Amino acid sequence: MFKHILVAIDGSDLSMKAADLAIGQARLSGAKVTFIHVARKFPIPDALKDYIQAEHLGSDDFYDIDDAVRQVLDGIRDRAKEAGVARVETVFREGKPSRTLVDYARNVKADCIVMGCRGITEIEGMLLGSVAHKVASLAPCTVILAR
Ligand SMILES: Nc1ncnc2c1ncn2[C@@H]1O[C@H](COP(=O)(O)OP(=O)(O)O)[C@@H](O)[C@H]1O
Ligand SMILES: [Mg+2]
Repeated sequence: MFKHILVAIDGSDLSMKAADLAIGQARLSGAKVTFIHVARKFPIPDALKDYIQAEHLGSDDFYDIDDAVRQVLDGIRDRAKEAGVARVETVFREGKPSRTLVDYARNVKADCIVMGCRGITEIEGMLLGSVAHKVASLAPCTVILAR
């Protein structure tokens, strides 16, 4: 049985399915569940960097943690608690999703990552999303892909 399950949420239907799978597992095993979303850092063009410096704007202004995604994670956390999962948390990170997910799993010693095999940035013809592919290849633990 798993002790700490990390669930990767991008707001897609399959990531929701992953969340439900993890909740079901945690109810049986008493595992801790962490729902994590990684906001991509957009590269800032040089011209814009000058502007940011001139206007004393923090580069944080250009990171995109969507309010909608926060609400989605809050909703999932509440659902997990209602289902009887005692230890639930939500985490937001910024960076490259695959690397950030793998590093986080390693740091907290998660023993399972649950995610969708596809997400919201679907490219037609790809059977497995690039985040799913990289995490499944590089993760330090078991990876469950919801389909
Ligand atoms: N930014 C992200 N933060 C957290 N989880 C993510 C993120 N992007 C993708 N995922 C996870 O990876 C799964 C597969 O998505 P992805 O590989 O990006 O496929 P696609 O190319 O179809 O978007 C998603 O269902 C979700 O569980
Ligand atoms: Mg994607």
